[in-house]
Amino acid sequence: MIITIGDAKNHVDKEVTIQGWMYNRRGSGKIYFLQLRDGTGFMQGVVTPQESGEKAMEESEKLTMESSVKVTGTITAHPKFDDVFELQVKEVEALQIPADEYPISKKEHGPDFLLDNRHLWLRSGKQWAIQRVRNTIINATYEYLNNEGFIKIDSPILTPNACEGTTELFEIEYFDEGKGYLSQSGQLYLEAAIMSHGRVFDFGPVFRAEKSKTRRHLTEFWMMDAEAAFVEHDENIKIQEGLMCHIVKKVLELNQKELNILERDTEPLKKIEAPFIRKTHAEVVKELREMGSDIQENHDLGGDDETMLTEKYDKPIFVEKYPAEVKAFYMKRDQEDESRALCVDLLAPEGYGEIIGGSQREDDYDVLIKRIKEHNLDPKVFEWYLDLRKYGSVPHSGFGYGLERITGWICGIKHIRETIPFPRLISRIRP
Ligand code: 4AD
Ligand code: MG
Repeated sequence: MIITIGDAKNHVDKEVTIQGWMYNRRGSGKIYFLQLRDGTGFMQGVVTPQESGEKAMEESEKLTMESSVKVTGTITAHPKFDDVFELQVKEVEALQIPADEYPISKKEHGPDFLLDNRHLWLRSGKQWAIQRVRNTIINATYEYLNNEGFIKIDSPILTPNACEGTTELFEIEYFDEGKGYLSQSGQLYLEAAIMSHGRVFDFGPVFRAEKSKTRRHLTEFWMMDAEAAFVEHDENIKIQEGLMCHIVKKVLELNQKELNILERDTEPLKKIEAPFIRKTHAEVVKELREMGSDIQENHDLGGDDETMLTEKYDKPIFVEKYPAEVKAFYMKRDQEDESRALCVDLLAPEGYGEIIGGSQREDDYDVLIKRIKEHNLDPKVFEWYLDLRKYGSVPHSGFGYGLERITGWICGIKHIRETIPFPRLISRIRP
């Protein structure tokens, strides 16, 4: 019977077949340890002349790194470690034995070499673990939002206007229609959809052309935008808090093995529960200046500011009410101080920084058109968006998260390029 390594615990002392890859081999002549991988996990196959026979020994001898194989034998529980199983091999069938030496060896490789070989690097243990955690985060997001009454609405990638500012746009020639742009966020389209469905979210690739080279930036990344009618600033924060708690809980529940492989200290993750820390931008500026930052009162937080601030805390921090001038045109202003936006960014602890950006939206037609003009945007291309304030406008709010930044934080990975299968950076579009 063919089984998966992930299911081995249910087949102890049974004869089974595993199909996958031999990523490494130890031993020689008298005994071979085949390190096997099948997508669901990793397992060692033990081959000896006495137990496995000469034929299996000969076949094992021929295997080179990353040979694809079918290996048959008996599952045994590891004598020393709980929840670890081995295969006492009876038969080895090679599907393909690479003639060339596998480019990624056990020795240290530089990041450029690994990124050039991303199509192969994805097979290694840490990269395997990161993608499994990413998958849990995606599923947990759907689960939480569906439970909270959000339905998934897909927003377009080819768009006629900017969402997050015109300096970060990838431009394309769109047939006879003039310029088109790759979407920076589906938010504006979700605002249309809430008037039909109340609560919606999208989840897909978005694009940012800013020439930024930091460990937090990709030119293509996956964003989940959520938007809800009749939700105001405080409730917007509650939804984000609930979502993040659910995501971390699910990863802790389902990915212990992966977090082990990543050597992620899970203590900080276990502390992720509501309520998170909540501070205003003004408070944070004061705190940062005391810590030595030269940030000004009307400045956005820089990457270094975010790092410095979040290294101090072991809980995520909501930073609300930024100066309106550093934020997007669609944000509603704070009634108590018109110079502030009713916005909130969520910063992940341990030095990770911004993972979510969101706000209450301006819902008044006249104010919104004024904002569009103030931002030097063309009201003509936003006519459809302005219509939403003309026909049954309601208070509403939303937020967008960056999947790679959340994955990076939860996995404890420094640079987010490792959290997306095929990273796109300003100087990298291959493989
Ligand atoms: O803060 P941002 O730019 O917000 C928006 O786009 C809103 N329209 C979202 C909304 O309200 N629906 O982006 C949202 C999140 C950030 O908090 C960050 O996690 C991630 O997207 N992000 C990036 N991730 C990787 N590389 C980049 N260049 C990113 N830019 C933003
Ligand atoms: Mg932001």
